[in-house]
Amino acid sequence: MYSFKNDYAEGAHPRILQALSDTNLEQSEGYGCDEHSLAAVQLIKKRLGADADKADVHLLCGGTQTNLTAISAFLRPHEAAIGTNMSHIFVHETGAIEATGHKILTVPTTDGKLYPDGVNAILDMHPNDEHMVKPRLVKISNSTEIGSVYTLKELEDLSRFCREKKLLLYADGARLGSALTAAGNETTLADMRRLTDAFYIGGTKNGALLGEALVIVNDALKEDFRYHIKQKGGLMAKGRILGIQFEELFRDDLFFDLARHANAMAQLIVSSLKKAGYSFLTASPSNQIFPILPNTLIEKLHKNWAFYVWSKIDESHSSVRLVTSWATSAEAVRKFIEEFE
Ligand SMILES: Cc1ncc(COP(=O)(O)O)c(C=O)c1O
Repeated sequence: MYSFKNDYAEGAHPRILQALSDTNLEQSEGYGCDEHSLAAVQLIKKRLGADADKADVHLLCGGTQTNLTAISAFLRPHEAAIGTNMSHIFVHETGAIEATGHKILTVPTTDGKLYPDGVNAILDMHPNDEHMVKPRLVKISNSTEIGSVYTLKELEDLSRFCREKKLLLYADGARLGSALTAAGNETTLADMRRLTDAFYIGGTKNGALLGEALVIVNDALKEDFRYHIKQKGGLMAKGRILGIQFEELFRDDLFFDLARHANAMAQLIVSSLKKAGYSFLTASPSNQIFPILPNTLIEKLHKNWAFYVWSKIDESHSSVRLVTSWATSAEAVRKFIEEFE
């Protein structure tokens, strides 16, 4: 059985394990103040372009933890976040954001993306009225929960709109590596810094054992952030584990190379399924793809392949979610493709 269920089925890239092993007996400061964490922060900042020095970078453990720590720190008690109805914070985080007291207002989507029109509709429904929550933060995921990737123009339009409306723009980058290395993508980490108030760079789903790097750009959101991390249980005594991993990922282009590999494996499957005449839930140039298959075929594939059935399309067809990773082998992909020939 080979799994296309997710991009965290394997451990970590060998270079990361090697770096952890090589530094194992070093004695270091705790709570992210060790030399590797400090070096990792500098390496990430170097990728952020002009004014990079002004951004704050914090290393956290996981996506949900990063989202809830950031969003709850950025919002005042009566303020709410806006996301799509597929948004990870809305569907798959066990109410973590709501548990911090902030409502999530949702916009329906078919392609996974949030556009100014959808956000505007939420604003229209929430005129200045202290009996309602106040929409304040727009949360997007890039790549999205269904594998689509924002174009640079879409990000620029959304960013401009948010600034006009005095909304914060926060990007969940659990799969940012995949988005930024997808075919046709023009967005860079420097653009993410330029266009958002904060975003995170996902390590967990791109070759790290665990870890996400949160970049806070907006000065007004920076103050006391380490207090928020600590209060939410995210300030790790052995913060070095995160630092060593991100140092390795950004020492050179490892972070991007691993994401590129994951994308290439997924896109091999896409072209083969397209050739065989299958369609997809949405266009996805990233490492998550959602082909629509006959239920009979899904049943047959499940004998040798693990993957999630995503949604019912009609009585005899469903969309499935196939995810490739930095470690997906070309051999496995070749064998999977053979099932469709
Ligand atoms: C877009 C997105 N955000 C956040 C997360 C949450 O990550 P974690 O499972 O590390 O909390 C995921 C996990 O799949 C995700 O897909």
